[in-house]
Amino acid sequence: MDRKQIINDPEIGNKAEAYEAFDDIPTNPNLEATIGDVINARYGRRDMLRGMLGVSAAATLFGTSALIAPNRATAATASDSRYRFDELSWGNDETHHIAKGYEADVLLRWGDPITAEAPDFDVMNQSAEAQLQQFGYNNDYVGFTPLNGDGTRGLLCVNHEYTNEEVMFPGLGRQDKAGFADMTKELVDIEMAAHGGTVVEIAKSTEGKWSVVRDGKMNRRITPLNTEMTLDGPAAGHDRMQTNADPSGLSVIGTLNNCAGGMTPWGTYLMAEENFHGYFWTDVVNSDSKPDISAQREAKSMKRYGVPGRWYAWGKFYDRFNIDKEPNEPNRFGWVVEVDPRNPEAKPIKHTALGRFRHEGCETTISSEGKLVVYMGDDNRFDYQYKYVSNGSVSHIDDANGSLLSDGTLYVARFDADGSLHWLPLVHGQGPLTAENGFASQADVLIDTRLAADALGATPMDRPEDAQPRGDGTAYIMLTNNSKRKDAQVNAANPRAKSNFGHIIEIKEAAGDHAATTGTWSILVKCGDPELAEVGAQWNPETSENGWFGSPDNCAFDADGRLWISTDQGSKWGKTGKSDGLYALETEGELRGHSKLFFRCPVGGELCGPYFTADNETLFLAVQHPGTDGTKALKGFERASTFEDPATRWPDFDPKMPPRPSVVVVTKTGGGRIAS
Ligand code: FEO
Ligand code: CA
Repeated sequence: MDRKQIINDPEIGNKAEAYEAFDDIPTNPNLEATIGDVINARYGRRDMLRGMLGVSAAATLFGTSALIAPNRATAATASDSRYRFDELSWGNDETHHIAKGYEADVLLRWGDPITAEAPDFDVMNQSAEAQLQQFGYNNDYVGFTPLNGDGTRGLLCVNHEYTNEEVMFPGLGRQDKAGFADMTKELVDIEMAAHGGTVVEIAKSTEGKWSVVRDGKMNRRITPLNTEMTLDGPAAGHDRMQTNADPSGLSVIGTLNNCAGGMTPWGTYLMAEENFHGYFWTDVVNSDSKPDISAQREAKSMKRYGVPGRWYAWGKFYDRFNIDKEPNEPNRFGWVVEVDPRNPEAKPIKHTALGRFRHEGCETTISSEGKLVVYMGDDNRFDYQYKYVSNGSVSHIDDANGSLLSDGTLYVARFDADGSLHWLPLVHGQGPLTAENGFASQADVLIDTRLAADALGATPMDRPEDAQPRGDGTAYIMLTNNSKRKDAQVNAANPRAKSNFGHIIEIKEAAGDHAATTGTWSILVKCGDPELAEVGAQWNPETSENGWFGSPDNCAFDADGRLWISTDQGSKWGKTGKSDGLYALETEGELRGHSKLFFRCPVGGELCGPYFTADNETLFLAVQHPGTDGTKALKGFERASTFEDPATRWPDFDPKMPPRPSVVVVTKTGGGRIAS
């Protein structure tokens, strides 16, 4: 399908779904050269079914739980789970649900004032000026850094990924269908002010309830409208980073499409820039009204990154978002941004050393020798998994860590069929990354990270979303789905064609060292309904009908080192009938691959966060775009949501208020550690 067909597809209910469906068209040119043939030849499906593979080879390839027949009882039962809670029943309705014995309170909603001076939210009279002092839209990553010893006061750091104009603004409807004809500069400015991030102080009362401290001295919004940022690292200042507004190539206004993220060991907040391509505009089109970038100097790079996406009208009012006027501006997005939440005067920094791609998340850990390691996915069908290792070591003196994200090595992952993992360095002058191949410097390697990774032969993955290191050399990678993978494109690490439900890969770095350049990998679970043979799911057989899930997206370890997964099925939730939610997923022992449902979203919402405090007594969750995704599948509603007619008005249930993306805070009733 082309863009027009996607926009007008009756199955697609809103712009965000159309935007994502358009990304079904992969930009990776390396797809014919996968190792799928190798795996099929060496470990063909028939051989697997016949049991001809040796146990150790199969375990290396597919994880030990793959070897457990679906209905065979294990010695351990679900009641032996390390997560002590009674699982929630699956379903999908207009509100959120939490397992028995827990509270799930709404802490911050889109539009809530976050400064002492901020006006109260007035949905019928929105303005950019008000929105700049209010909580932004579509909360995604949530991090927390304490301000006191017992962690009862601290700064919540929240990303605001994108805006849904048809449910945000009264009377507007879908603008992608209308050529953005009704998007005024005033509306665009509100959208820009609703993107970015929020830093806000919160405090826990003696009764154990969290609330916003509106006069917190460090409270601030970070937006693509007006937040100045510094560019640093090898690509900063390069010719390709210079624009009319910034001839130095060292300074940029704002960040956008901030999806997942991370906190550094020294308490700074990392914001990943994901689908930046959609914010760029062109008026140069061919006879089919499609963008014509053939005359662009950056055409090769733009094509690989999907620029210009034209999913927002910002370029109609801001030259910097129009590639006809500022062809280098897209090179200044797609990075990881570091924010010092304790210093509201400090300019955020875009770190080019961590590469340019559709950054999903950026979770950090420390290697055996004290180096900073950051795991990062490029969320596109057939794109890659990356990690970054600093040259210097993490210091206990916070201010001494300033260069760790500026000076280091970026690697891309190759997952071999024998279960080995190889991290390939993206270093100018090494291997194919030379001037003859279009990489004249390290700046070129980083600005065109995807092209460099293509040249190195990285493994094309099923949309790498969040990845979480545990600190012991183990990390988990969420591969959310990839309905476009054909049989011939299957590889060992992405073993299903037309994968609607995704899978999770476990990485074990060599010698338990996160800085290692080799390791092993296995598949922890293959998602989807285990009762349907054609789905090919792989779960621990103790997993109940409530516990299996589709489309793993974000993930976190709790303070006890246990893994939790949140899901984003997007327009596909009708295929499972289940809402998105938070699941406790066993990684160890006989229950490895066993999953339990803990929290579920209101209809149409995906679940982001999650983030556990150090005492494991509080869990922050972000419910993104409630009422929006896939609502055509909701029995009794069966249509796309709009401002006037949404599938839910969560969390206010006020007939005058549309649904509002919100952060939810989970605590145990009466206090105590979660799932203990
Ligand atoms: Fe913003 Fe890949 O989810
Ligand atoms: Ca996500």
